[in-house]
Amino acid sequence: MSEWFTLAYAEERDRADPLGAFRDEFHLPTDASGRPLIYFAGHSLGLEPKSAARLIREELEEWSRRGVLGHETARRPWVRYHEQLTAYAAELTGAEPHEVVNMNSLTVNLHLLMVSFYRPTQKRWRILIEHGAFPSDRYAVESQIRFHGFDPADGLIELAPRPGEDLLRAEDIAAAIERAGDTLALVLFPGVQYRTGQVFDLDVITAATHRAGAVAGFDLAHAIGNVELGLHASGADFAVWCGYKYLNAGPGALAGAFVHERYADSLELPRFAGWWGHDKATRFLMGPEFRPIPGAEGWQLSNPPIFAAAPLLASLEIFHRARLERLRAKSIELTGYLARLVQTLLAGSVKIVTPLEPAGRGSQLSLRVLAGPTAGRRIFQALEAAGAICDWREPDLIRVAPAPLYNGYAEVLRFVDLLDRFLTEAASA
Ligand SMILES: Cc1ncc(COP(=O)(O)O)c(C=O)c1O
Repeated sequence: MSEWFTLAYAEERDRADPLGAFRDEFHLPTDASGRPLIYFAGHSLGLEPKSAARLIREELEEWSRRGVLGHETARRPWVRYHEQLTAYAAELTGAEPHEVVNMNSLTVNLHLLMVSFYRPTQKRWRILIEHGAFPSDRYAVESQIRFHGFDPADGLIELAPRPGEDLLRAEDIAAAIERAGDTLALVLFPGVQYRTGQVFDLDVITAATHRAGAVAGFDLAHAIGNVELGLHASGADFAVWCGYKYLNAGPGALAGAFVHERYADSLELPRFAGWWGHDKATRFLMGPEFRPIPGAEGWQLSNPPIFAAAPLLASLEIFHRARLERLRAKSIELTGYLARLVQTLLAGSVKIVTPLEPAGRGSQLSLRVLAGPTAGRRIFQALEAAGAICDWREPDLIRVAPAPLYNGYAEVLRFVDLLDRFLTEAASA
């Protein structure tokens, strides 16, 4: 084999990649001359599966041919369409099928589940999140605290990394939960931090939260389809995710939610209700009394958008064939290759903020240009102009995520070459 930092080596790795053929199942964005871009932005918006258009077209045809009858007589009847997604979503989240449902969008699901799982009292009303949580999560929890008549000034605890550090330490999370003790109603944490790419241990956070007598909820936007999850075994109370990042189900895609099976039949748990959460056997009797479906499906409100469910079905079917454990194994290697190249070739110019050990990261590496944010932003713009698509997160991070379904080693090498070139140019400017 060639030296590990050469194009010959990277191309050999791509040829030997047992998942390499999946790249052909996606539309790869191209530059003006038709050359595929280096697309490392699957943490933001995953690429379009070629099968998505076919599945959407099929439903458009069913609609034109059958009208309302399609609810029952379409090849994939619309009343049950979303149920095809369930086993796949359970597979990706390590949940039982009755613990997951695909519906709405992430923030909507977060609110719906907080209706049930954030039940503050005068004694126990606080929510713990990480400082620098995704803004939508912060807005959501803050508005829930206010909605219940409490003041976020003391109701919202935001846990920051230690001064001078970028990452949260596990012991600091556990200590913060313990400190909040019996004032704590809810801990809402991400599976993967969107800015730094740090993976959090759901089992440990859930156990500490439950020891404090609080509820553990997770935002898996950057975790699903990226790292292996064991939601059921973790004992987490609820979780939400979106479908447009690693799941490749398109902009604004249908999202998902998990409710642990111990709540499957808890009729006493307050919830916002809608007819699609009502018992399937009697839904169309149109009675006045709401009787929820046991499990996560009982949190549904509306009949699902079929044209949004179709691309998610296309994508989840690909995940099922590729198998998450194989994707994760490749991701560890591929992102590890990126890390090794950056550490070796760009040492002194770029800091990798993301944890380097495989258990601490997913596909994404967050890079900080040591010459400062102005240089960092300019380099990011130069990368984009050169056809390397990643993204910039204020104040100073370039996020780069090779996705194991459609990215490969030669692209990683070409990306680092470009980064190297632009760093050198910035240094001599
Ligand atoms: C971590 C995280 N949480 C929440 C959201 C908000 O998602 P939505 O607009 O689908 O509600 C995003 C969107 O990118 C996100 O990255």
